[in-house]
Amino acid sequence: MLKIDGKETAMELRTELKKEVSSLKSKYNKVPGLTVILVGEDPASKIYVKNKEKFAKEIGMNSEALRYPVDLEEKVLLNKIDELNKDDKVSGILVQLPLPKHIDKRKVIEAIDHKKDVDGFHPMNVGNLSSGYDSSIPCTPLGCSLLLKKVEKNLSGKHAVVIGRSNLNGKPMTQLLLKENCTVTITHSKTKDLKEECLRADIIIAAVGIPELVKGDWVKKGAIVIDVGINKTEKGIVGDVAFDEVSKVAKALTPVPGGVGPMTIACLLKNTVECFKKAQK
Ligand code: GUN
Repeated sequence: MLKIDGKETAMELRTELKKEVSSLKSKYNKVPGLTVILVGEDPASKIYVKNKEKFAKEIGMNSEALRYPVDLEEKVLLNKIDELNKDDKVSGILVQLPLPKHIDKRKVIEAIDHKKDVDGFHPMNVGNLSSGYDSSIPCTPLGCSLLLKKVEKNLSGKHAVVIGRSNLNGKPMTQLLLKENCTVTITHSKTKDLKEECLRADIIIAAVGIPELVKGDWVKKGAIVIDVGINKTEKGIVGDVAFDEVSKVAKALTPVPGGVGPMTIACLLKNTVECFKKAQK
């Protein structure tokens, strides 16, 4: 069984991006800029934002994190986004989710100029992705897709089962797999026989947030399994896949931690570089 190393793959991607940022600097005499906005004190979000800021700096981009108190007025946030939309030094804007309840997530996502939407959450990018046009691609499914391609270059005709239908991952993941000519089954909490569905899969993408849901006897021999889950349990952080059991039947499997997680930030940096390049045209 191949343990797919997300940490190493992310490092390789960051190294490539660092070189690209340096050549962009020579060509345009400026570098891509990423602004990340955090509202409130969610502990996981604080760590994510710190890492996003750190890695962006590390590859030579301009990087700024704006931190606001939990009671920030929605109007103030929308005004700030408007200001960043107009700022030429800012190539990408990311508002860390979840947002406090009094702020309308949809309004915030739609306020970001879709050309600076490095999350790929703006309806314009969602629509472009599903129509097969050029778009920002949400970072987590993009990371999953790059890891999959490391194991199997040609995914054409493969049967992929996606567990979870979120806007952040399940739905855009489905679009990416369709682009690769996979046959895709989308499953979720109301799916009748999830085990049966999984057993038909050549590729499983588990993104539901249920600790070790996917068991060894749910997986066809030789399948590729990508685990997006990050679940806090008594025995520590575990994914949506029972790693030890599944590693006995799968051809390749991502670990948690060290699989999809590190790829997400590297893909955010990739999206920021892409937005910068498009803005120069
Ligand atoms: N919170 C958890 N994952 C994400 C993500 O990919 N983007 C944003 N903006 N917030 C998140």
